Amino acid sequence: MSSEESWKPYREHDTVLVINFGGQYTHLIARRIRELNVYSEIVHYFQLSKELLSEIKPKALILSGGPRSVYSENAPKIPMWLLDVGLPILGICYGHQLIASMLGGEVRRGKGEYGRVTIRIVKRDPLFREWGEQELVWMSHADYVAKLPPELEELAVSEDTGYIAAFRHRSKPIYGVQFHPEVVHTPRGKILLKNFVIDIAGCRPTWRIENLVDKLVEEVRRTVPDGDKVLCAVSGGIDSTVTALIVKKAVGNRLVTVFVNHGLLREGEVEEVLSNLRKVGIEPMYIDASQRFLSKLVGVEDPEEKRRIIGEEFVRIFEEIADRDPTIKWLAQGTTYPDVIESGAVPGADRIKSHHNVGGLPRFTRFRIVEPIRYLYKDEVRKLGLALGVPEEIVWRHPFPGPGLAVRIIGAITEEKLEIVRKASKIVEDELRKANIYKKVWQAFAVVGNDKWVGVKGDARAEGYIVIVRIVESEDGMTADWARVPYEVLDRIARRITSEIPQVTMVTYAVTTKPPATIEPC
Ligand code: XMP
Repeated sequence: MSSEESWKPYREHDTVLVINFGGQYTHLIARRIRELNVYSEIVHYFQLSKELLSEIKPKALILSGGPRSVYSENAPKIPMWLLDVGLPILGICYGHQLIASMLGGEVRRGKGEYGRVTIRIVKRDPLFREWGEQELVWMSHADYVAKLPPELEELAVSEDTGYIAAFRHRSKPIYGVQFHPEVVHTPRGKILLKNFVIDIAGCRPTWRIENLVDKLVEEVRRTVPDGDKVLCAVSGGIDSTVTALIVKKAVGNRLVTVFVNHGLLREGEVEEVLSNLRKVGIEPMYIDASQRFLSKLVGVEDPEEKRRIIGEEFVRIFEEIADRDPTIKWLAQGTTYPDVIESGAVPGADRIKSHHNVGGLPRFTRFRIVEPIRYLYKDEVRKLGLALGVPEEIVWRHPFPGPGLAVRIIGAITEEKLEIVRKASKIVEDELRKANIYKKVWQAFAVVGNDKWVGVKGDARAEGYIVIVRIVESEDGMTADWARVPYEVLDRIARRITSEIPQVTMVTYAVTTKPPATIEPC
């Protein structure tokens, strides 16, 4: 609940603090720990201080992976005192190399190990409880620990390279693993994390989403003073629905909900959203602002500019609502934990996209912000939704970007491209639902740009648009893989798109993971 907040989960739950060095799996580490019912938070390495540690009082630290080399200039580091505070520490990948190097070991550029690798346990340790002598793990590194300092002893080696795959400190509960226990490709990774978090660090598994409802409601009630109203924009998605429900429980009819149609919604979305929300007792004010948004977007090609225009227009609408009722002093936002962490990301790092809840909306000066789900991951929000009685259609609805179809149309938005992307997306979703795949994937949609492909319709030459179908699997949207949808389903999607949308002559399927691509095209 931003600066107004007083409730912090770490005050009530044993906490594992994950120190982020910019690794692509950092959120996955935190989520895995939470799956063990232990609360976990992320801080960036440069935020670490003695004050922060005494505020959070973590029971254990995990040092994440990261893209840098420990021996490079300006390599991210942690202070030496951290290794002496008596906390159990687990270094993963970059974290593993950092601990070894801080204690006087040697880290060098090696042959590189990527993907599945077999390791052999050379010394038994509680960290490897329930691990066999040889196990498959997932590696992703170029540097390796070439020599351990005397305080560290080797626990496991890579079969092929002989590189140190794991070590521990001889007298302190400090460990390093070169591989990634947090990814599913390390089959016993979750057991290792449990061994570390529960057995070695002694964390109590008390973190349960179902028990959180009252806590979050109480916090909103404490934050928003009597008499103040809260505005909450709903989209029909799980984040805004859960946010609205929690705020409603807290402030009752002092919650004002609004559903803004920016003209960039999917086919049939307005009716569907309104009817879904009705099922959970939310009757938002409906504002059709399509023309207002679309007219501002005419000729705009740059996606960040589209985001900025849309964000600004949203705020104007919120302000107009508040102009009519000055008791509306608060804005409830469905910001989730990755947004919170990303918005404080490493300074100087490239901003890939200004996502809606983070940088897309201009700074609010007029409203105070309440963000009841800011500590939660999407899967946790879904669980919370189920605990609140939210129907499955909302709980399992795919995430849909705030700027809507604007980021699925490459280049300028036109009526024609909007119509194509709407119809094609509907076909993608319909076919996935029919094949029982919709719920299993993170997102599925169609994209259109300006490129054309020559086709034959009847016997005539017909130049038409290219539609790109993107279907991805992901755990949190931070990394993603393209879904291995059966060919028959792709075939049906492609046939229907070209036959039902006459302006389209070619359908392609996007087979690039994130990274290097992002999920949305722009
Ligand atoms: P990318 O494209 O960055 O997307 O891989 C990651 C997740 O974020 C969603 N996304 C957005 N959500 N406003 C939003 O509210 C945006 O501008 C935006 N851009 C991307 C995307 O759908 C995916 O789930």
